[in-house]
Amino acid sequence: MARFTLPRDLYHGKDALAQLKNLKGKRAMICVGGGSMKKFGFLDRAKQYLEEAGMEVQIFEGIEPDPSVETVMKGADAMLKFEPDWIVAIGGGSPIDAAKAMWIKYEYPECTFEDMCKVFGIPELRKKAKFVAISSTSGTATEVTAFSIITDYAKGTKYPIADFEITPDIAIVDPTLAETMPKKLVAHTGMDAITHAIEAYVSTANSDYADALAIHAIEMIQNDLVKSYNEDMEARDRMHNAQCLAGMAFSNALLGIVHSMAHKTGAAFDDFGAHIIHGAANAMYLPKVIAFNAKDPVAKKRYGVIADYMHLGGKDDDEKVALLIKELRKMNDDLNIPHCIKNYGADSYPTEQGFVPEEVFLERLPGIAERAIGDACTGSNPRQPSQEEMEKLLKCCYYDTEVDF
Ligand SMILES: NC(=O)c1ccc[n+]([C@@H]2O[C@H](COP(=O)([O-])OP(=O)(O)OC[C@H]3O[C@@H](n4cnc5c(N)ncnc54)[C@H](O)[C@@H]3O)[C@@H](O)[C@H]2O)c1
Ligand SMILES: [Zn+2]
Repeated sequence: MARFTLPRDLYHGKDALAQLKNLKGKRAMICVGGGSMKKFGFLDRAKQYLEEAGMEVQIFEGIEPDPSVETVMKGADAMLKFEPDWIVAIGGGSPIDAAKAMWIKYEYPECTFEDMCKVFGIPELRKKAKFVAISSTSGTATEVTAFSIITDYAKGTKYPIADFEITPDIAIVDPTLAETMPKKLVAHTGMDAITHAIEAYVSTANSDYADALAIHAIEMIQNDLVKSYNEDMEARDRMHNAQCLAGMAFSNALLGIVHSMAHKTGAAFDDFGAHIIHGAANAMYLPKVIAFNAKDPVAKKRYGVIADYMHLGGKDDDEKVALLIKELRKMNDDLNIPHCIKNYGADSYPTEQGFVPEEVFLERLPGIAERAIGDACTGSNPRQPSQEEMEKLLKCCYYDTEVDF
């Protein structure tokens, strides 16, 4: 038996934000990030709509990108004081994820961060509040997923919280919010989305339900991501739906080791000013992981199906896998994302000098590999890597060398 869970309602299309007017409740707490939602007027509009619905509104702002455990605890304290019956998270993956974790702590104040990280171990929520998620980036799809990613900066690592309890009640997918994204954010979040769809499709937890969503998302992203990056606003609008479809797929079919590696490398070099942005990490690692996973016959066949839907040609599955890798690398080129950590720097591409020093990377490699294997996303990957294989794979991601094992 398997479970497939999505938000109860999803409002999509331009002006879907106005749906906030129809919520019924007393107090809404809006959780938001550093300023883009305020700057572009979406925060004010959300507040007005909630007030039109007759609610008292409080704003918790300043949630940082890749939110920390400390921010989660602070937000939960604010919720315990204000006692909202609606939590309205608006912005990119970061504020929405942080708000999800705050929600758990608000409902269960005694719950520690360690408790939250027990996969599918969250107690029943919605005793105090329901949750609306309004996404402003086209990648994480956290508005429909059962996940929240919180960073423990003391440990330099990201922890996924995973439970259908934190799947939002309402998702608002209004493309107007995504239109203000700067190009680099479009590129990174878009590659995050295609990684979600591809990992979900080859995951050992795949299903007919998730497959349909993943394949359609892959086709859409192939057609629209580069156009969206080049400021085609109709493509940008479609990408907002495409990433959401990918999210519905992976929330149920789970992910694989591209995400395990991205989670464990993202904050591992922060002390060198070398934070590897989630989407960029995925974009660099995905082609390497496909080469590694394709040694598993079932995964290889599934990559072949993806290549077929992408109309890439190829006479057998080996050729199809090679063409899929080539296509993804071309997307990285078109989006100015480098192919490896060594070349990942301030403007991502091309860089004179990588931000992650080679000797530091090599020194930290065994620990990162061990943590990546232990990441919650590894279990559903089609091929289980050994410590040695994970280290080799990460090295290929550092140097952009071929995966032949
Ligand atoms: N919960 C999940 O299922 C899931 C899945 C994948 C990734 N994640 C996590 O989500 C986080 C990344 O989220 P993200 O990629 O959406 O970025 P983000 O939320 O970290 O935002 C990045 C930056 O973009 C700005 N921004 C956001 N929307 C904008 C807009 N419309 N116009 C202009 N600027 C805008 C923000 O202010 C911020 O400075 C990571 O922590 C990642 O690990 C979560
Ligand atoms: Zn992701």
